Formats: sequence, C-alpha cells, structure tokens
Amino acid sequence: MPRIAEILDTMEYGPSPEDSGIARDWLARHEAGFGHFIDGKFVAPAEGGRFEVLNPAIGKPLAQVAQGTAKDVEAAVKAARRAQKGWAALPGHQRARHLYALARHVQRRERLLSVVETMDNGKPIRESRDIDIPLVARHFYHHAGWASLVETEFPGYRPVGVCGQIIPWNFPLLMLAWKVAPALAAGNTVVLKPAEFTPLTALLFAEIAQEAGLPPGVLNIVTGDGATGALIVDHPDVDKIAFTGSTDVGRRIREATAGTGKKLSLELGGKSPFIVFDDADLDAAVEGVVDSIWFNQGQVCCAGSRLLVQESVADRMYDKLKRRMATLRVGDPLDKSTDMGPIVAQVQLDRIKHYVELGKAEGAACWQDSASLPKGGLYFPPTLFTGAEPASTIAQDEIFGPVLTASTFRTPDEAVSLANNSRYGLAASVWSETVNQALHVSARLKAGVVWINCANMFDAAVGFGGYRESGFGREGGREGMFEYLVPGWEKDAPALKPEKPAPLSAVPLGGEHDLPSIDRTAKLYVGGKQARPDGGYSYGVTDPKGRVLGQVGLGNRKDIRNAVEAAHKATGWGGLAGHNRAQVLYFLAENLAARSEEFAHRLTAMTGATARAATAEVEAAVRRIFFYAGFADKYDGQVHDARARQVTLAMNEPWGVMGILCPDEAPLLGFVSLVVPAIAMGNRVVAVPSPRHPLAATDLYQVLDTSDVPDGVVNIVTGERDVLAKTLAEHDDVAALWYAGPADGGAAVEKASAGNLKATWTNQGRRRDWLSDAEGQGRDYLRRATQVKNIWLPYGE
Ligand code: NAI
Repeated sequence: MPRIAEILDTMEYGPSPEDSGIARDWLARHEAGFGHFIDGKFVAPAEGGRFEVLNPAIGKPLAQVAQGTAKDVEAAVKAARRAQKGWAALPGHQRARHLYALARHVQRRERLLSVVETMDNGKPIRESRDIDIPLVARHFYHHAGWASLVETEFPGYRPVGVCGQIIPWNFPLLMLAWKVAPALAAGNTVVLKPAEFTPLTALLFAEIAQEAGLPPGVLNIVTGDGATGALIVDHPDVDKIAFTGSTDVGRRIREATAGTGKKLSLELGGKSPFIVFDDADLDAAVEGVVDSIWFNQGQVCCAGSRLLVQESVADRMYDKLKRRMATLRVGDPLDKSTDMGPIVAQVQLDRIKHYVELGKAEGAACWQDSASLPKGGLYFPPTLFTGAEPASTIAQDEIFGPVLTASTFRTPDEAVSLANNSRYGLAASVWSETVNQALHVSARLKAGVVWINCANMFDAAVGFGGYRESGFGREGGREGMFEYLVPGWEKDAPALKPEKPAPLSAVPLGGEHDLPSIDRTAKLYVGGKQARPDGGYSYGVTDPKGRVLGQVGLGNRKDIRNAVEAAHKATGWGGLAGHNRAQVLYFLAENLAARSEEFAHRLTAMTGATARAATAEVEAAVRRIFFYAGFADKYDGQVHDARARQVTLAMNEPWGVMGILCPDEAPLLGFVSLVVPAIAMGNRVVAVPSPRHPLAATDLYQVLDTSDVPDGVVNIVTGERDVLAKTLAEHDDVAALWYAGPADGGAAVEKASAGNLKATWTNQGRRRDWLSDAEGQGRDYLRRATQVKNIWLPYGE
C-alpha cells in the first residue's frame, strides 16, 4: 500500500470544470450574429460584414461578430458627440450613480462574464473569476468616486470630449474598464473597439450598460479588426485616442494623430525585468515569477519576462523554478485547477514558437516541462531560457508568451544597468529583504511601475503606464484622470496667426559682412560654456524695422547632439533634493531681477514693445522663477490607498533630458515659463529660444553662470526652431519634448517623435497668454515635467 506521503506526492487533481452552460445560453441567444452597440441599441453592421470569433481552447467558433466600417464608425462617433454635452452637464454625483450601477451590474453578472471571458480568450477561469472581473467592478466603483469629485479635485479642467478607445485581447474586459471608467467619470463619451480575437465581453458589457440605464450614446462599441481601429483613429470628430496594444501600432497611431490636436495616451509593450537579490526569499520569488510570466500564459504587457538573478543564488533559484514549472498545470481553461490555458490565437502561438527557436539558435539553454501538455489546441509549455546574452533577441523583444529569459548579475549597479538595457520601460519587480536596497534600486529603474517583493499587482487607485517605448500616459488613480481632462484655457485658446517668417540668413562666423563686429556674436550655451556653432555660421537678429541688433550662432544637428550629451552628463541635478534646486532658482530670480532694466531694454529693442510692456514681461519672468523655486520641493507624490498592508508610492520623477522649443511671443517670459518648471522638477534641458528674438535668452548665459546653475542643466542652442526641433524629436536620448510655435511645426514634432515614442506637449498652434498666471504657469507644467512611477511595497508577514 502506498504511504500517505507518497499519495500526496503523486496525487492528481480530478477534473473540476466550470459549468459553461450559462455562457452557451447567452451565445445561443445571439446565434444570428452580434451587431455594434451604438446610441444605446444593438444595430446591424451597415455593410453587413461579420467575422467569426473562436474559442482558442478547442478551436471552435463561438460567435459571429460585426466588422465595423466607416459608416458604423461614423454613426458611433455621431451618437457619442450628441450625448457628450448632456453627459458632461450631469452633476458629478449623477454620473457617479451611473458608474456605481455599472459596477453593481458587473458584480451581479460576474459568473457569466468570467466564463465568457475564459471561452473567448483562453485564460484560466481562476484568473478571469478572481482577478479580471473583480478588478473590472473595482474600476467602476473607484471612478464613480472621481465622477462626483472631478469638479472640486480638478478645478478649471473640462472633459476632452469624444474618446476613441482601442483595446487588446489579453485582458478584454479589464482593458475596457480601465478606459471606459475614467472617460465617463470625467464627462466624456466613448467609442470603443475591442480586439478582434476577443470582442465578446465588451458586447456583453454593452448589454449590461443597457440594463443599467446608461444614457444612449455615452458608450458605443464598434467591433472589427485593425482597419476599424484605424477608422476611429482617423475620424476628425474624435478628440482623444486611448490605445493599448503593440508598439508598432502605437507608433502608427502617433503618426496618424500628429497635428490633429487629438489627445493621446499609449500603453504599449514591455520587456520587464524581474530582479532577485541574494537576500530575497527565494520561494516567494519563485511564486512571483509564476505570477509574472505564467499568468495569462505570459500574454501580459507588464510580464516579468527577464529574470535577473544575483549570481550567488542563481543555481538555487533556477532549481526551484524548474521544480515549480513541473507542477504547473496546462490545460482546459474552464477547469478550476488549470494554471495555464491556451494561447489566444494561432498567429500568436506561431510567434512564440518562432522566438523559442531563435533563442535556441542564439545559444541560450532552453528548459521546458512538456510532459503534461494537452494534445492539440493552442497550448505552449512554460519555458525558461538561461544564459541568454543581454543583447540577444529573446532578451530584447517582447515575446508575449510564457517564455522567461534568465541571466545573472553580481552587483546592484549591474542589476540596474541590465534592467534598464531595454527600449521598453513598463514595469519591474524587485526582490530583496533589505528595504533600502530594494527602494534604491526601484528609484533607478526606468519603469512606470515597480513591485517590491510582489508582482503584477493592479488597482484602480494606482496609475499604470510606461516609460520610453512602453508609451505615455497613465491609467488609474488621480494621475490617470488627467488623460481624460483638459485645462479649460487650453481648450479655448485662439489659434496663432499662421505666419511664414523668412528663413534665417546664415553668415559665416568671422566672415565679411556689414553687421556689427563679430565679438558681439552670442555663441551657443552648452555644458555651461559658450560654444562656437558647429557649422561656423551665425545669423543677424533684427528689430521690427529690420535693423540688425546683433548676431547669434546658427545651431545645427551636431550642436543639438552636443547639447544633449552635455545635458546627460549633468546627472547630479535630478538627484538633488528639491530644496537644493530651489536655492539655485531663487538665486537665478534675484540675479535676473538685478538686471531687469537691461533685459527690458533688450526686449524693447528686439520686439518694439513699449518700455512698460517690456518691464512687465521681465517682472513676470522674475515672479515666475520665484513661483517654481517655491514649488521645487512641494510638487509631492502620493501614497495611494490601494490595498491593506501595502504602501504604493506614486513618485513624480523627472523625465531626464527634455527638449524645449520656445515661442516667439514674450521671448523672455515664454522661455522662462517653459525652462524653469522643467528644471525645477530635476530635468536637464536643451532649449531653443525664439528664433526671431533670441537675444533675451542669450543674455541669460551670464545670469545662469552667476546663479550656480550647474553646467549642463540648461543648454541653449539658437537657430531655426523647426530644424532643431526635428533633431530633438528624433533623438533617442531626449525623453520628452515641449513645443511652442506654429501649428505645422508642432505637427512635425509629433510625427517625428513617433520613432522613439517620446512624450510631447505642443501648443497645437494656439496662442498662450504667457503673462497670465492661469495659462503661463501652474501645476500642469510641473505635471508635464514629470512622469509618475508607482512603487508597490507590501509590509507585514
Ligand atoms: P495589435 O496592436 O495589432 O492589436 C491591439 C488592438 O489594436 C486591436 O484592437 C487591434 O484591432 C487594433 N489595431 C490594430 N491595428 C490598428 C491600427 N492600425 N489602428 C488602430 N487600431 C489597430 O496587437 P496584436 O497584433 O493583437 O498583437 C501583436 C503583439 O502586440 C503581441 O505579440 C504583443 O507583443 C503586442 N501586444 C501588446 C499588448 C499590450 O498589452 N501591451 C496587447 C496586445 C498585443
């Protein structure tokens, strides 16, 4: 007779399938095929096209779904537009009641939603039932709160308008909730397109919205593939696009929306590090890996797909991991004891297989436990690669499957540099029992979310979103609400008069000309020193009558690259306490104040402004520097209240190196209003002053020199704004770009930044009143000068 210990060792679970009858009944009611949900009703697709949706566990059709065409998108956008004013005009608490109703109805239908989600996507029922759907309800509850608070918590802000939302297939209903809940809370209306592989829970949610009495047109759902998504992106009456999906499509959307004035948030791919130090609880870390890379079959944008283990514990960690892998159950996702279901679709499975073959060819050692893999179906075993080179394809590309790539490090510095060796920056997980080590590493990671001694934690109160090519914008929490709001003054700002100033006329430095003597040429300001422009040219700065006032350097691409390099070297600035940065800014304000008369004369000479107006501009510039000096140590982060026994620190981190293109209006105040909040938050900047009136900025060199602004914190390159803007936009080491200038220049910046997906803030060709405190300064500048990193830290046993 086997002993009990042996039985426990070998005992197989019996099957424990979830009854899918409830979902089959629902699908049977829609056997004739689903329509789109437009203006509160289900409507047949205008052109009749439908496609089949498959159950990836058995490869059988589940339903027929409409393929949205231009007519469908048009009808949905029109309905959303008609509904928007009335929805925004509802008192916040009434919008809140609608969102509560949605949350309650989701809870009531939790079982149906979970089963449909699992049948449509293939994720284990344990995950849809215990994670996805409860989080959906949580998002609607949380944002119901924001609906009633939005007027008092976001004074001066307005809803963006009609939002186009495009979501992926990996968390179909959860991604809907992440997008729809904040949009509706803020007073927007929505046209949402679910992914073509997994549209069913969105359609079921539309039924729930109908049942819960959501006003017609507030939520519209159009199904279809990428072509339908592109129609939403391109629709001229959509005010905002929120997208989650692949980086390639994110890039295309960035290009397509450039210059249209559409607000944009992108949540894209990742290759997130999972860092294990030698003092980590290795058993807990192994469970963390399971939750990171084998959760949802690894089809998770923030999956911890790169395991970095401290060398001294690597073998132990790998052994434990392999033993745990052997116990993972891959199979029927409707079975309650299944850990991993099928991959969502054949094309994704092929992609994963391709990467695994590539990994083997690249020389990494591959470990798989395929013994219990079901026959047939789109299943793929949990996979571990060890010994992969950091630069290898499997260590760099997002595989989006249950494939973990492991390598080792020796020191914390090496761990940070390996972790940051990625074009992505979505999430990271850090395992160490030493809290100061874990926090020190977290602070240096380029990632929007860091989980310390935990993994894949989500909550509606906590922002989620990436650095670098993982996109921009946050979803969830206070920070996420800003994606669906816009300052009233920005919305109302009048368009700048389109002007086509003549190109700057280049004169060789030191060449023969009838301009004032060459020693009056202001050079560029790079790394705290005046630098001769690389091309050896300058241009004449004229007064309104065309008389030459002086010469400034004509910067080129090389000058921008040098300035970016100098800015990168000034690493200490971001690490200073806000108090120390404030001291420097106060000093700067005082030094500018001491020379205010000289600056006022300069402005009058350059722009023809009256003495009074020029003095007012200088005084406003001084006040503005004081304002940001005051704020340097006060733009705090937050501790989110996400879960019990968990602190979640929302830290406002500087971007790093920013490019700033300054306006022609208010040449001194415009420059100060953009550069100073950026540096107050710890950024280093490469600034291009007004090309027509640059002398107020070049006169600042001496003020910067005498104010203890460290070398490289402010770099100034004079020249053609739009030529220099392009180089800054395309530069991979410039993390964010602000542009104030003509509309076509702003559009070009947005387009050029699609390559590396940097965050941009342009004036959309609109005039800003720099003298006004409401428009020219404030928290919005500080918010845009930072990105939020959320660090999750559990405590207790
Ligand atoms: P995808 O980016 O093509 O699809 C995501 C959504 O965008 C879907 O709703 C799709 O219909 C829509 N879409 C596609 N082309 C579009 C366009 N030109 N304009 C507007 N909308 C468009 O992702 P796909 O092909 O399903 O997956 C490919 C890879 O993308 C995955 O292997 C993974 O690496 C990555 N991915 C990342 C996700 C994330 O959560 N970050 C989610 C899904 C995929």
